[in-house]
Amino acid sequence: MKDLQNKHAFVTGAASGIGLGIAKACAKAGMVVSLVDLRQKALDEVTPWFTERGYKAQTVALDVTDRAGYVTAVDKAEAGLGAIHLLVNNAGVEVPMVPLWKSTHDDVDFITGVNIKGAINGIIAIVPRMLERGEPAHVITTSSQSGLSVVPGATLYNLTKAAVAAMMETLASDLQGTNVGASAFCPGPVQGNLSKTSYEVRPASLPNQAELPPPRFAAPPEPKPGEEPPKMPDFSKATISAEDAGDLVVRGVQRGDLYIFTHPEFAPGIEAKYKSMLRAYPTDLPENPERKFIFENFFGFLAKNPIYETQQQR
Ligand SMILES: NC(=O)c1ccc[n+]([C@@H]2O[C@H](COP(=O)([O-])OP(=O)(O)OC[C@H]3O[C@@H](n4cnc5c(N)ncnc54)[C@H](O)[C@@H]3O)[C@@H](O)[C@H]2O)c1
Repeated sequence: MKDLQNKHAFVTGAASGIGLGIAKACAKAGMVVSLVDLRQKALDEVTPWFTERGYKAQTVALDVTDRAGYVTAVDKAEAGLGAIHLLVNNAGVEVPMVPLWKSTHDDVDFITGVNIKGAINGIIAIVPRMLERGEPAHVITTSSQSGLSVVPGATLYNLTKAAVAAMMETLASDLQGTNVGASAFCPGPVQGNLSKTSYEVRPASLPNQAELPPPRFAAPPEPKPGEEPPKMPDFSKATISAEDAGDLVVRGVQRGDLYIFTHPEFAPGIEAKYKSMLRAYPTDLPENPERKFIFENFFGFLAKNPIYETQQQR
């Protein structure tokens, strides 16, 4: 979707961090914006940034896990700012970083409910409207670099982010030939408030995060006897601002990128991952003409999905 002027962006998780950065970037690019979040007070606090600059924005209170509420929220958003052209499924949460066998079923339901089902709710509520109107439109879901290169100990988070990346590739495949594009946004470290807000929006029935073990990477390595403790770098220096992340998202929408990334430092890890996969395919099996025929003529979407070819030509 190249022309963004006066088009309507519906951004979830927009009261903070990356969602707010994306909403600001959309406004700067000429779009009108629905700032969607379940924390109305936080939405009210960020709205002046838009109004003071003369940008058209409205707030929409919504818990993305509420299926019926989602449709009502979309009706309300479209009544206020017109047809939605850009859906950004960005609302997300994290849960305590523990190995999977120590996770609770409540945490499984909480994180999959918001990170996966919340994004699906957005697609089911909005994409049919986009298709019916036939105007250029786009859907983004915020995955994570950790959906592709996993963070050890964060299974639940990683799996929700891998799930939505697969969801967006499939959506892009299913939307070929329409006017609606789709992207997975896979940020590396960005200035946001995920730990804090995940705690705030965590259902009261779930155990307090403070009662659970801290993330594994929090502890610096133990110094050897007689040695100085190792100097830890300031890890915040690896982050980019949410505004810069938002600008990259807008650029990705305009270019029609299937994947939108923030940190080129992760590219070698992705290359190594796919090389290790390629190495694992058996190359010593006997020729099988019937199988070859089926793959070449009927399973083309698995062996050669055109969405990847198209991306390489961009
Ligand atoms: N910050 C990072 O480094 C980073 C990296 C990779 C991916 N991400 C992903 O980016 C997204 C935003 O992260 P962030 O760091 O900006 O976090 P953030 O906490 O600053 O923003 C998340 C927002 O989502 C809202 N939210 C949570 N549950 C919701 C629900 N059920 N319905 C509606 N709104 C809800 C919160 O109220 C909050 O305003 C998340 O999906 C996160 O997983 C973040």
